[in-house]
Amino acid sequence: MIRVLGFAGSLRRASFNRSLLRAAQELAPEGLEIAAFDLAVVPLYNGDVEAEGDPEGVAAFKQAIREADGVLMVTPEYNHGVPGVMKNAVDWASRPPQSAALAGKPVGLIGASPGMTGSARGQSQLRQAFEFTNSYCMPQPELLVFRAHEKFDADGRLIDEPTAGYLRRYLEAFLEWTRRFTA
Ligand code: FNR
Repeated sequence: MIRVLGFAGSLRRASFNRSLLRAAQELAPEGLEIAAFDLAVVPLYNGDVEAEGDPEGVAAFKQAIREADGVLMVTPEYNHGVPGVMKNAVDWASRPPQSAALAGKPVGLIGASPGMTGSARGQSQLRQAFEFTNSYCMPQPELLVFRAHEKFDADGRLIDEPTAGYLRRYLEAFLEWTRRFTA
């Protein structure tokens, strides 16, 4: 069994990206288990606070990453880039660089947006961070859920069958990708 930690870079209740993460948990193939972590408990990065010891939420977040075989990040896109909530979480998990929770971790990256590009630029920008964190972000396939408001119902359930199919294929590939690093 491969155990992955998933988190979405949005804090709002009706977030499409949180909904996409829930769909991923439900559609995960045999052999893949995705636990969700809520980034609401992760404060803004502050080196002074870090020097006094990780706050409870940060410590729990890093521990959950360490215990997981891989990480699934579900990112929105804000102003053609990665939203602060997600970047901030990655920044905490990249510290300290010598023993970062994200170092050497396989990473899956997906995202949703109501626009036509489905978080493409947010994902692209986030990928750059993995050069520094030394994480192994799966290159392909990609999953960009565009026009997200048409793909989820009012309760956040994924109702678009083609998107569910792409998500299943993504998760199958991510299971194989993660296995490569956990032999
Ligand atoms: C957005 N949104 C947005 N969408 C997009 O596709 N490209 C963009 O550059 C932006 N920029 C942007 C900036 C800011 C500050 C906000 C608040 C929103 C729209 C965004 O995709 C939409 O609000 C999503 O619903 C956010 O994701 P969640 O919260 O639904 O997961």
